[in-house]
Amino acid sequence: MLGLGKAGGSLLASFAAARIPVAARARRVPALARQRAALTRAPLFLAVPDDALPEVVAALAAWPALPPVIAHLSGARGLDVLAPLADRSAIASFHPLASLDGRHPIPRGTLIAWDARAPSTGPRLAALARRIGCVPARVTDEARTLYHAGAVVAGNLPVALLAEGVRLLRAAGVPAATARVALARLLRSQADNAERVELGLALSGPVARGDADTLARHLRALDERDPRLAALYRELTKRLIDDVRVPEARTRARLLRALSR
Ligand SMILES: NC(=O)c1ccc[n+]([C@@H]2O[C@H](COP(=O)([O-])OP(=O)(O)OC[C@H]3O[C@@H](n4cnc5c(N)ncnc54)[C@H](OP(=O)(O)O)[C@@H]3O)[C@@H](O)[C@H]2O)c1
Repeated sequence: MLGLGKAGGSLLASFAAARIPVAARARRVPALARQRAALTRAPLFLAVPDDALPEVVAALAAWPALPPVIAHLSGARGLDVLAPLADRSAIASFHPLASLDGRHPIPRGTLIAWDARAPSTGPRLAALARRIGCVPARVTDEARTLYHAGAVVAGNLPVALLAEGVRLLRAAGVPAATARVALARLLRSQADNAERVELGLALSGPVARGDADTLARHLRALDERDPRLAALYRELTKRLIDDVRVPEARTRARLLRALSR
């Protein structure tokens, strides 16, 4: 393992929990080079910052012999960054889709997006992901930007909606810290439901109940107070109606009428 920060530390904790031996570990390439003799059979994971990958790869390229598999842990970078190593090692990626702290193992059930140039490397990485309790899925270089954008849309953008929700609760008289914690818990309970059942069933709220009058009241208040947020409310609610919880025709018509007022 090269890099002992958040991702490297958590992957090591996962290996320890699964009783998978680790031959060498270091924070920098020179320290890893001193343990090179132990690296002839196991895959080497590069858990370094994305921007450090080119210099790390250049340093590894100068080694006389390389580990059989070298995989980076980046979600944003493809295999091309490892290309200088490709003629002497099977290059790969192994990205746990989770926010890691370097101390605890990668949570069980975490998606690990992998890719590999050599056909024999993929099954090996997928098996390793399963051994540490994760769910492997191949994401090729061509699809990687969409994959990463999906993670940001679902994982980061809701924070913008959380901030808007906090602002509305504050305007309703709820203290800021209380509002933040309360809405974060609400979001978590919705996410917990989405983990258990498909999204249409997981959804709660006015669209799930077919409550058109509530939508209309919300939009009257938001149109007055914050038209940009009202536009966002309309757009996202339309997506819920069209793509998530498609109601029967009459309810759908009532909900859409409420949005167009
Ligand atoms: N954090 C996450 O939740 C997470 C989740 C999935 C994937 N990843 C991926 O995992 C990789 C590592 O991210 P991280 O969050 O673990 O980073 P991090 O906490 O900053 O740790 C980076 C590690 O790399 C070492 N390192 C080696 N060469 C370096 C250099 N040239 N410059 C700076 N540091 C260098 C650092 O050494 P020092 O200890 O001396 O600083 C540190 O141990 C990234 O590709 C990231 O996209 C992260």
